[in-house]
Amino acid sequence: MKQTFYVTTPIYYVNDVPHIGHAYTTVAADCLARYKRLNGFDCFFLTGTDEHGQKVEKAAQEAGVDPQTHCDEMVVRFQSLWKRLNIANSDFIRTTEARHKTIVQKILQDLYDRGEIYQDNYDGWYCVPCERFWTEKDLIDGKCPDCLRPVTEISEKNYFFRMSAYQSWLIDYIEKNGRFIFPVSRRNEIIGFLQNPLGDLCISRPKKRLQWGIEIPFDTDYVTYVWFDALINYISALGYGSGENTVARFWPQATHIIGKDILTTHTVYWPTMLKAIGLTPPKMVFAHGWWTIEGKKMSKSLQNVVEPNRLIDTYGVDALRYFLMREVPFGLDGDFSHAAMIHRINSDLANDLGNLFSRALSMVVKYFDGVIPAPADQQEIDQGLRTIAEKVLAQVEKQMDDLAFHKALASIWEIVAAGNKYIDETAPWALAKSERDRPRLGTVLYQTLEALRIVTLELAAFMPDTAEKMWAQLGMEEALGEQDIRKSGSWGGLKPGKRLSKPVPLFPRIEQEK
Ligand code: MSP
Repeated sequence: MKQTFYVTTPIYYVNDVPHIGHAYTTVAADCLARYKRLNGFDCFFLTGTDEHGQKVEKAAQEAGVDPQTHCDEMVVRFQSLWKRLNIANSDFIRTTEARHKTIVQKILQDLYDRGEIYQDNYDGWYCVPCERFWTEKDLIDGKCPDCLRPVTEISEKNYFFRMSAYQSWLIDYIEKNGRFIFPVSRRNEIIGFLQNPLGDLCISRPKKRLQWGIEIPFDTDYVTYVWFDALINYISALGYGSGENTVARFWPQATHIIGKDILTTHTVYWPTMLKAIGLTPPKMVFAHGWWTIEGKKMSKSLQNVVEPNRLIDTYGVDALRYFLMREVPFGLDGDFSHAAMIHRINSDLANDLGNLFSRALSMVVKYFDGVIPAPADQQEIDQGLRTIAEKVLAQVEKQMDDLAFHKALASIWEIVAAGNKYIDETAPWALAKSERDRPRLGTVLYQTLEALRIVTLELAAFMPDTAEKMWAQLGMEEALGEQDIRKSGSWGGLKPGKRLSKPVPLFPRIEQEK
């Protein structure tokens, strides 16, 4: 039986079109899912859309359509972007789907029946953009402490989940499970947050104020608070509570990739909700940083929102995927600029990787009529290249377990750099001058191509299209997607005798003016 793995993205609000921040989380989750699959895991990868709540209701009103029509129109934007970005998700969940709504209502009814949910009066403040309640003391200068936007005063009857009852359990859980919240700075943030008393969670909204939500099953005057509804997507997609479900198979391996702004909901609300229904917390919640754009916060008013579709048009899908995963350490904030993007393409992709690939293949075409030569006796320098490739394979596995995508790519580039250095030092063009050096020339080119085959296997998770092209050009016949790196990563998988064609450039250099 294969080991299982479960990776999720947040489900995105459909009040607006997808931007680079959404693409970032989704590409990261996709790289992880693809990597796990290539390492023999049975991996379930979930993404989707968060379609209820005041934000979406308001966006629909502004667009002059009913909320469901608005959602149906917007969801396509996400789905088509994921297609263009080569996202290999196993499922796509929408919170307006019946399969989700039924489960949310079942959970609510069960919690209510067991006294985990009660009715009370709520007096406080509400931030519409964040869909969050705040108390007077939470506010900063009378504004939302998270987004610093104005809040609305509210006094009404509502339903509450007894979240406070789980505070000491949660603190204990976080302390005992060092890999639950990542990176460590975020873990400390939550430990700090839990030093203060935890309140109960308001999980309803009166219909007179908000209609667009899942009806509370035990009081039809209310709909469910959007976060209580949304978090459940992670288990409703596995069919929780229904006859046929994959909860037991995947839930224990769940890794949630989220942005740092939604850390509290995922590491405080969600584990306590799970505890109340008898499930364990997810295995890991990893909060990544935020992108600024050319040094500025991305916002509609600044008109600097970066549209991923345009980046794909300009630079290509794999260059974008590579940039997002390589440029910024996963977990820290980063800045997007066209200059940085062009620099990465020209230096890492066109120069380092592209050149190595085309140099190696061109020489096989030129000196061996395109037929992959068989390696002869190995020298120390040949062994050196192999040793680096083998070291990197093990290193990347560990780095991917820590979601250190930038480090994994830097490791893969160690092979690329070693390959370029190897060619420079062994100087195949000089060996080609004498018939006597032909076996040596064959060894050098075989070693270089074999290193590139390993690079291709490792890159398949990050740049699937490019890796496919490289794989085919290396004359590999078995489907790349069906490889198990633990086996096909062993040195020597390249087949001597295969005929290769003149290489097709992988990444053309980009002139700055563009
Ligand atoms: N619907 C909720 C999530 C519910 S999950 C049960 C939500 N949606 S969102 O569309 O507003 O944001 C989704 C993700 O995009 C968040 O993880 C957020 O951090 C991320 N980003 C939004 N802007 C971003 C940047 N500028 N940079 C990086 N990621 C950012 O929150």
